[in-house]
Amino acid sequence: MSQRTLVLLKPDAVRRGLVGEILGRIERKAGWSITALELRTLDRAILEQHYAEHVGRPFYEPLVEFMASGPVVALVVAGERVIEGLRALAGPTDPIAAAPGSIRGDFGTIVRENLIHASDSEESAEREIKIFFPGVA
Ligand code: RTP
Ligand code: MG
Repeated sequence: MSQRTLVLLKPDAVRRGLVGEILGRIERKAGWSITALELRTLDRAILEQHYAEHVGRPFYEPLVEFMASGPVVALVVAGERVIEGLRALAGPTDPIAAAPGSIRGDFGTIVRENLIHASDSEESAEREIKIFFPGVA
């Protein structure tokens, strides 16, 4: 089942020079392709849309501040079961609980600064792709 997903390499990943490493892991999965890609610094308005489901949670304000703290790499990845596949490559939210071999498990220690976002469902993916790449059909 071919799908699309929205991926963000968070400001910690860009600051630490891990863009190539993480993009390489995505590119090496057979049959997946990057169909849009942009380096950009996110403002509060776009982050409020993207993280609307988390408004009011205790981690929301520090999360928005962190996500606006430097450029991110936003990309769309297309291919076979790519939504589930990107979540598996990323690992669970807490990098200490994430298995070695996953992006978060290999490179992270802090829950907030967990390197990567990947859409969690087809509905989220379509909603998020519209936010970041409104020109992409
Ligand atoms: P994401 O949306 O970024 O792909 O991550 P996720 O689904 O694994 O996690 P989610 O629950 O959607 O949380 C979004 C992001 O908020 C930060 N967070 N901090 N307790 C905390 O301090 C806390 N909990 C979540 C993380 O950056 C998480 O990825
Ligand atoms: Mg999430």
